[in-house]
Amino acid sequence: MTAVPGGAGCAAVICGVGAALPPHVVSNADLTARLDTTDAWIRSRTGIIRRHVAGADLSTTDLAVRAAAQALADGEPDPVDALVVATTTPDRCCPATAPVVAARLGLTGIPAHDLAAGCTGFLYALATAAGFIAAGTARTALVVGADRLAALPAPEDRTTVPLFGDGAGAVLLRRGSPDEYGALGPVVLGSDGTGAELIRASRPGALRMEGADVFRHAVDRMSTASREAATAAGWELGDVDRLAPHQANSRITSFVARRLGVPDDHRLDNVGEVGNTGAASIPLLLTHSTADGRLKPGHRTLLTAFGAGLAWGAVALTWPDLSPTRPPGYTSSGGSRT
Ligand code: UT7
Repeated sequence: MTAVPGGAGCAAVICGVGAALPPHVVSNADLTARLDTTDAWIRSRTGIIRRHVAGADLSTTDLAVRAAAQALADGEPDPVDALVVATTTPDRCCPATAPVVAARLGLTGIPAHDLAAGCTGFLYALATAAGFIAAGTARTALVVGADRLAALPAPEDRTTVPLFGDGAGAVLLRRGSPDEYGALGPVVLGSDGTGAELIRASRPGALRMEGADVFRHAVDRMSTASREAATAAGWELGDVDRLAPHQANSRITSFVARRLGVPDDHRLDNVGEVGNTGAASIPLLLTHSTADGRLKPGHRTLLTAFGAGLAWGAVALTWPDLSPTRPPGYTSSGGSRT
């Protein structure tokens, strides 16, 4: 590909969003039939009511392709110059997911790679793609978060099975200027591998998580990263119209909002419908909230995430006007448009 000018005056600007969820829904009632748990326990501890779970016929790559295709349809019709897929659950260790996704979208020849940073993967991917744009490597970039986390817990583990779902979300970035709606502020990122054992899985069906410790770290790290991202963008926390946190669970995100002094009705939440979808969580939330009108053009929005690694991050942006090409309703039918 041809390098394009990046440089100091340029920013990565969100110009499209997309989402894909498997059609199969597993409700809390479905789980109570096979686990020693209750709908009341799951709702009160997590806010989760149902989650979407992929069958054997729907891979991480499939979900990523559907979300990316929707973001492309939503965005401006420029050629795509780069693609980054964040995932902890690639279909295979080799090759990476992203070149296959790119090929299925007709984007052969562009730089395409995967990265793994647990539930913070989407923010790491956003920073990577924004770096491609700043460096002049790309003028436009697709950023996809795709995970099939429902397969990670041991099927009989009531402490983790209810938490996770499958899905993918995507945003399209283009080169623009820092003062326009949709321009990403500096992305704050961090990690601490001394906490690596707190969430770990050597293979599907073998997830282990120290729930209470993870909860505490999640609240601390997302709150701190959010403050840093707001400061880096020149905002006061009182300026924040929408908090778009990784959808680990509603109790965690409520604590983060409270710690930041962000009113709870400014906190976006779709975990009840999708569970914790890992790297897909934030772009799914953004797509869902744009479609249902909770996230509007001009909203000063803080994205923040935390997860395995440990890894965390945050970024501030003013939400762009995507409405002319938005579908009227959010669909759970695998990214098809209504
Ligand atoms: O991206 C980050 C991913 N990780 C997370 O989001 C998880 C963060 N952690 C949490 O959200 C919470 O720790 C959980 C929701 C996982 C658990 O909530 P908790 O309030 O920390 O519960 P706990 O683990 O302290 O367990 C309390 C009790 C225990 O029983 P005993 O020992 O008090 O008799 C558990 O055995 O709840 C029991 N329990 C359940 N009971 C019914 C655990 N899971 C269940 C369940 N149904 N599904």
